[in-house]
Amino acid sequence: MLAMNYRGPQRVRVSQKPMPEIKHPQDAIVRVTRSCICGSDLHLYNGNVPDTRVGMTFGHEFTGIVEEVGPEVEKIKVGDHVLVPFNIACGKCHFCRQGLFGNCHESNSQATAVGGIFGYSHTAGGYDGGQAEYVRVPYANVGPTVIPPGMDPDDAVLLTDVVPTGYQAAEMGGIQPGDTVVVFGAGPIGIMAARCAWLFGAGRVIVIDKIEYRLEFVKNYANCEAYNYEEMDDPVVFVKKTTDWMGADVVIDAVGAEATGNTMQTITGRKLLLQAGSATALHWAINSVKKGGIVSIVGVYGPTDNLVPIGNVVNKGITIRANQASVKRLLPRLIDHVQNGILNPKALITHRIPLEDAADAYRMFSDKLDNCIKPVLIPPSARM
Ligand SMILES: NC(=O)c1ccc[n+]([C@@H]2O[C@H](COP(=O)([O-])OP(=O)(O)OC[C@H]3O[C@@H](n4cnc5c(N)ncnc54)[C@H](O)[C@@H]3O)[C@@H](O)[C@H]2O)c1
Ligand SMILES: [Zn+2]
Ligand SMILES: [Zn+2]
Repeated sequence: MLAMNYRGPQRVRVSQKPMPEIKHPQDAIVRVTRSCICGSDLHLYNGNVPDTRVGMTFGHEFTGIVEEVGPEVEKIKVGDHVLVPFNIACGKCHFCRQGLFGNCHESNSQATAVGGIFGYSHTAGGYDGGQAEYVRVPYANVGPTVIPPGMDPDDAVLLTDVVPTGYQAAEMGGIQPGDTVVVFGAGPIGIMAARCAWLFGAGRVIVIDKIEYRLEFVKNYANCEAYNYEEMDDPVVFVKKTTDWMGADVVIDAVGAEATGNTMQTITGRKLLLQAGSATALHWAINSVKKGGIVSIVGVYGPTDNLVPIGNVVNKGITIRANQASVKRLLPRLIDHVQNGILNPKALITHRIPLEDAADAYRMFSDKLDNCIKPVLIPPSARM
């Protein structure tokens, strides 16, 4: 089968790989119909995630048709069109039972922080992902969810990560009615977080990025204010000034380790890899939230040291809530929101690209070319 094949930093190929096989009675094999590239994939692409092995297939946001199921799979059957949450979760462990599907203790048993994730290096279990024609889906009674009749697959594929992550970013912010919410990052995640902030009663939503077309997009899509940090002397001072020098009630980091905006962070975090990515947006978030405010981090950071201003966190009494999104927990409500027209995720998809052209797609998305918000890869069989 055709599959995206990681060859090293910034080197992506599409090549033939062996068909995945059922390895466990609860596995399913899914024929992919849609598979997005995510900002999280860029951390892998740029070589910032440890133990990203040559030959791995990325892709944790996908939909597909069930081709084959193991003997213990009861919840989905051959022929179902499913959306598959990015978390691989057993559904039974201490954490899964609490709805913490992103922290499953079984699906990535070598690690204690994060559970398994499709196509996300051996630090997240070493599972091949869905940027391929076929993918093995473990614990198939837990994650895969039949796409409701009539739902556009483009909406469905965004329910595997972007919508729940954006929603959870807002949820973790503990937004109170009337709160001022600042979102750093106007990628798909920041855009969705800004949109969802209103659902929790925000009174004012401000998004900060440096890419004009994204700022324009989010202003319209999320009906919020949007500002370019390159036009500010200091984004922290900007936020303080516009909040009567109080700071924002809630700040969301929807950028993560690939942040720009601070040369020292870029050199230590992205060039020399002396810390696990550049924590510029996190600095700005911690420093621009009000005292007692909440910083909600969904931007992904590496597992090793980061130069974060932890002293400020302590001294300001900031509550930081962060996690990988628990997609499955949120799905029933979010499916309702999409079906009722409250959320319109497919509007984020700007590019539909044949799987064969994944290398070009990565380059475009990484370099933010051609006004790209969200690219989706479509395998040949799904184009017929
Ligand atoms: N926690 C989760 O469950 C989860 C799920 C999906 C994605 N993520 C993470 O969310 C982050 C965003 O994902 P995405 O798909 O939107 O990525 P993206 O790369 O499309 O967008 C990131 C945006 O951040 C902007 N940016 C860079 N530095 C900035 C700064 N200092 N201040 C403000 N904006 C800045 C970039 O210009 C870009 O528009 C990534 O770190 C990704 O790994 C987390
Ligand atoms: Zn993702
Ligand atoms: Zn579990």
